[in-house]
Amino acid sequence: MPLVTTKEMFKKAYDGGYAIGAFNVNNMEIVQGITEAAKEVNAPLILQVSKGARAYANHTYLMKLVEAAILETGLPICLHLDHGDSYELCKSCIDGGFTSVMIDASSKPFAENIEITKQVVAYAHDHGVVVEAELGTLAGVEDEVKVSAEDSSYTHPDEVEEFVTKTGCDSLAIAIGTSHGAYKFKPGTKPQLRFDILEEVSKRLPGFPIVLHGSSSVPQEYVQMINENGGNMPGAIGVPEDQLRHAASLSVCKINIDSDLRLAMTGTIRKFFAEHPDKFDPREYLKPARANIKELVKHKLIDVLGCDGKA
Ligand code: G3H
Ligand code: 13P
Ligand code: ZN
Repeated sequence: MPLVTTKEMFKKAYDGGYAIGAFNVNNMEIVQGITEAAKEVNAPLILQVSKGARAYANHTYLMKLVEAAILETGLPICLHLDHGDSYELCKSCIDGGFTSVMIDASSKPFAENIEITKQVVAYAHDHGVVVEAELGTLAGVEDEVKVSAEDSSYTHPDEVEEFVTKTGCDSLAIAIGTSHGAYKFKPGTKPQLRFDILEEVSKRLPGFPIVLHGSSSVPQEYVQMINENGGNMPGAIGVPEDQLRHAASLSVCKINIDSDLRLAMTGTIRKFFAEHPDKFDPREYLKPARANIKELVKHKLIDVLGCDGKA
């Protein structure tokens, strides 16, 4: 099976009240952990590559790893550019075989966001590729760009119809209180997503797939594993999984998860070295790290996204 777009996946997810997991990939072990989990539970997948991942691992290596995962699993997999920040970057990924791109011009004024998104949509649709766009700004860190909580802003439901109609984008990422990274809410406060905004957006865009970024739940078992083995991540808090499950049952069709994979990998490797300070064979610490990524992803697919058995 070749790489697929998200068209079919999102239609089924919208109608079925579940979401597709979009997991960030940076190396072979991460691709393997995610795709082995998806194969075991028969889930469709979006594997996404950021500008930073592409700079780190190289476009062709990532492309070939994902192709290998398709051969190994036979699953419908979409390869997506995460947070494309320019027309040129989106074009390069489209030309290089990605089946989906995100143009993230959410930090630009509304009219400019429309203009750049429109250009990307025109090129992408000409090449059979789908486009995710974003309205509203999430707090947190992505590709070394840090957006402070004060500079973040919720999506204005009044803008979504005009934006989608004028740009022709295929899905829309919105800001309802999630944020990138491992520190999403102030310790001591109750994490609560703005479902009222999600509902308003969905009313204005019936049947249209909505995307949630910054949706790691920051498992405390891994934060603890990091803190107990030489790390220092006090106050790391994520999005409660029951709220993500609720979002998935509504119009949210794509849920982005990266930080949780990083925590699982880093926690596992820190623990390994604390227990085996004499070891130095990378396979010995990457193997349990990959196994824990697989377990984490299986849990997300079954208990959070509800997309198991939907491939
Ligand atoms: O939203 C950002 C993703 O977590 C990717 O992070 O740009 O550091 O690869 P990155
Ligand atoms: P997290 O940092 O919550 O994993 O978000 C990832 C993301 O939104 C990638 O685009
Ligand atoms: Zn994101």
